[in-house]
Amino acid sequence: MRLALFLFAAPLFAKVNFVRDVKPILETYCVRCHGDERAMKHFRVDRKEWAMRRITPGNPDDSTLYLSAKTGFMPPGPEKIPPERLETLRRWIAEGARWPKNLQLRPAPR
Ligand code: HEC
Repeated sequence: MRLALFLFAAPLFAKVNFVRDVKPILETYCVRCHGDERAMKHFRVDRKEWAMRRITPGNPDDSTLYLSAKTGFMPPGPEKIPPERLETLRRWIAEGARWPKNLQLRPAPR
């Protein structure tokens, strides 16, 4: 019982982890159009130095990358980022948008 409570509560205070939580979101919803093969609007999400041009660490509401998804502008088409994953993205930016050095993202296979 105690263990069950702990498992249930853990996600509430666990910090967002880029590789585990955020990378799959960006790779699923963004990188196929904003990566090294296609860079729509000359914007890339697959590398830190590019992505950070549209991110203000600590301030999701000043981060075009987050706002474009929150408003439903991105990705184009009917399939949007589900609310709980959008919240993960928001928290990651609020917690400082840490991105391990030299980690490049790849489009998720569809
Ligand atoms: C199907 C291809 C596609 C996908 C997937 C996609 N985008 Fe885009 N993105 C575009 C296109 C096309 C534009 C230019 C749209 C326009 O100007 O009307 C754009 C523009 C943008 C811009 C504005 C660039 C600027 O000038 O600041 C941002 C930010 C952006 N996308 C972020 C994202 C994010 C974040 C994701 C994932 C959640 C994503 N996009 C997924 C095609 C895509």
